[in-house]
Amino acid sequence: MSPRQLEPGRLVLATHNPGKVVELAELLGPHGLQVVSAGDLGLPEPEETGTTFVANAELKALAAARASGLPAIADDSGLCVDALGGAPGIYSARWAGRDKDFMVAMKRVRDALDLEGPRTAHFICALSLAWPDGHTESVEGRVDGTLTWPPRGSNGFGYDPMFVMDGKERSYGEISRAEKEADNHRARAFRLLMPLLPPWQ
Ligand code: IMP
Repeated sequence: MSPRQLEPGRLVLATHNPGKVVELAELLGPHGLQVVSAGDLGLPEPEETGTTFVANAELKALAAARASGLPAIADDSGLCVDALGGAPGIYSARWAGRDKDFMVAMKRVRDALDLEGPRTAHFICALSLAWPDGHTESVEGRVDGTLTWPPRGSNGFGYDPMFVMDGKERSYGEISRAEKEADNHRARAFRLLMPLLPPWQ
């Protein structure tokens, strides 16, 4: 029998970000997979030294799996602007500075853009499941859209007020949380990860 088994309550969410814990726990809960967070277990937070979303998600998930002896899920996400060669990308959180001010981050994106040039961008979310034996499964979800200025709406977080998903008219900052979470990059990555998980009860 495979040594890699999932048991409810014995899956670690390898993040110290309470927002991500809530969102991922909501996605996993209906499938009967209750989780504990890396923060609750007092696990250390590894430095994000990867050069891709998947590499960072993998190193966070592996660190938590090895430290806890339990399977662990981690995510890494960000905004990629085509005209900026994919920036801020894996550095999306860092563009907000020490104060984590996303008005500053959005203005940095806007100032770096040629006003007449293309405004296309996408959000990426990498999700990795890691096992204590070092095995990992990783997927990436993506949503495409266009940047808008000035930012619109106060819902959501991060770059939401300047992102309009393809097929929508309102920005992520203007639509409800439920509408955004029904089909965003995290939800898309999650749908790709589910079939890769071993069966559980
Ligand atoms: P991480 O903790 O390194 O994955 O940081 C991801 C960063 O990307 C966040 O701090 C946000 O700035 C940005 N980001 C990721 N997903 C979203 C989203 O759904 N809306 C807005 N910003 C996002």
